[in-house]
Amino acid sequence: MPLTLAEEVARRRTFAIISHPDAGKTTLTEKLLLFGGAIQLAGHVRAKGDRRRTRSDWMAIERQRGISVVTSVMTFEYNACVFNLLDTPGHEDFSEDTYRTLTAVDAAVMVIDGAKGIEDRTRKLFEICRLRDIPIVTFINKMDRETREPLDLIDEIEKGLALTAVPMVWPIGTAKNFAGTYDLTEPRIRKLDSVPEGEVVTGPDDPKVTALLQESAAAHFREEIALVQSVTHGFEHGFDRQAFLEGHLSPVYFGSAIKNFGVRDLLEALITYAPPPRDQKARQRTVKASESKLTGVVFKIQANMDPNHRDRIAFMRVCSGKLTRGMRTTIVRTGKSLALNAPQFFFAQDRSLAEEAYAGDVVGIPNHGVLRIGDTLTEGEDIVFTGVPSFAPEILRRVKLGDPMKAKKLRSALEELAEEGVVQLFTPLDGSGAIVGVVGALQLDVLKDRLAQEYGVPVEFETTRFEVLRWISAEKKLVLDQFVEGNRSAVAHDLDGAPVLLASSAFNLNYTLERAPGLKAAKIKEIHG
Ligand code: G4P
Repeated sequence: MPLTLAEEVARRRTFAIISHPDAGKTTLTEKLLLFGGAIQLAGHVRAKGDRRRTRSDWMAIERQRGISVVTSVMTFEYNACVFNLLDTPGHEDFSEDTYRTLTAVDAAVMVIDGAKGIEDRTRKLFEICRLRDIPIVTFINKMDRETREPLDLIDEIEKGLALTAVPMVWPIGTAKNFAGTYDLTEPRIRKLDSVPEGEVVTGPDDPKVTALLQESAAAHFREEIALVQSVTHGFEHGFDRQAFLEGHLSPVYFGSAIKNFGVRDLLEALITYAPPPRDQKARQRTVKASESKLTGVVFKIQANMDPNHRDRIAFMRVCSGKLTRGMRTTIVRTGKSLALNAPQFFFAQDRSLAEEAYAGDVVGIPNHGVLRIGDTLTEGEDIVFTGVPSFAPEILRRVKLGDPMKAKKLRSALEELAEEGVVQLFTPLDGSGAIVGVVGALQLDVLKDRLAQEYGVPVEFETTRFEVLRWISAEKKLVLDQFVEGNRSAVAHDLDGAPVLLASSAFNLNYTLERAPGLKAAKIKEIHG
């Protein structure tokens, strides 16, 4: 019997992996796909050369490929669940899209290298998840190597991220003596290279456990288990699903992606604990994922790097209803109608036509620029989803034009590319040259290349004295107006005319803000399609 719409929605899990480069995201992705039975495709993920590519290589690769899909979506099934794993560009291709992708998931897996603990990029991505209270499952990877003390790592997550970390399993042995994990939710062990179901034990001093450990290690292991079990955060096993769903608590698994160990735990955790596709807030009402009419929101635009093909792929998360190929939709922002004749599913670098899709699924919609980031598509209803934001750029550059005759052309090109989400564009009030802002340096390379190739406007970038940017607002218009008047040399307008404050450092920003009572400064700005 075909599944009902509600059943299709309920069996979906849409998630992303957040990690610092080299923590093992690619390896884990590959192993997740193997579990999902997508074996023939697993090789596609490890485009190692690709991931480590230099930026100039990236451009060449993009051109060769025609349309490129940097952020891809991998869909696989396991235990009757459909998983959509949204890839978050993390190496050289780290960009604002990486952040925006996190607004299109319902959960995240945080991969931590057991030897390194929480690293910069993990922290940044975690903060984005926190803005939306996205539930996070933690995977401490590389347990087959020398790692830091597991208790230390737990402590670092709790203190460093202000996140309650609840170990669900505990490693038995370390580094080359790593033998498996002890399940803290029921007395059971899982051994490396053994049956995935594990074996029932009587407790941490069961001979089956002790046999896996050297004598001194066994005593240490028992002490750790006793300690971990005594800290229950007031809940049974220390795990509280509600707190997890609200993003305050993370279940922690230890494993080794390379040895394919602990990966099943993760999938089971996503099935059991992670939420199905969420209801989505629109300005007018909240849209339930199981409503019958199709709605969707565009969170990313991928342009074609080949100037001969000016088409774009808009990535849309289905928010409700059923998408059927060929159906007509309305782009709410423009009121225009758009037929979804060739919606696509992506798999790493491959794609196929999507005949149907449900809430939580992500489809690519080829178009010639009619779709923008933040756009809402419906079957006609006039609703606008909120929640696809712009993120304060982390790199600011002034655009330097070689040929002053092309200033007007540059302006319109920059506006077009900013609308597409390639970079953000800011116009200083003091009349000085346009400033572009990005999250990842690659975005600047893409901008430069596209300005030259598609618009015939070669540019260079100059550093500015500004390093930090925040959107500013005030409850009283007068407060904002007075501030802007008094700080014209440090205020600019974004593409929509919203005022931003520029500062040379975080210290300077705070100094200015402390002297401006009533002024609010924000790191993110909602885009309303
Ligand atoms: P990333 O996508 O997060 O950047 O990480 P990736 O999976 O590429 O892994 C980074 C390195 O860590 C790779 O080694 C990979 O083999 C290794 N690795 C991943 N998971 C584990 C694990 O569980 N245990 C151990 N010991 N190593 C792991 P590399 O030498 O950089 O690449 P390669 O030669 O293996 O391809």
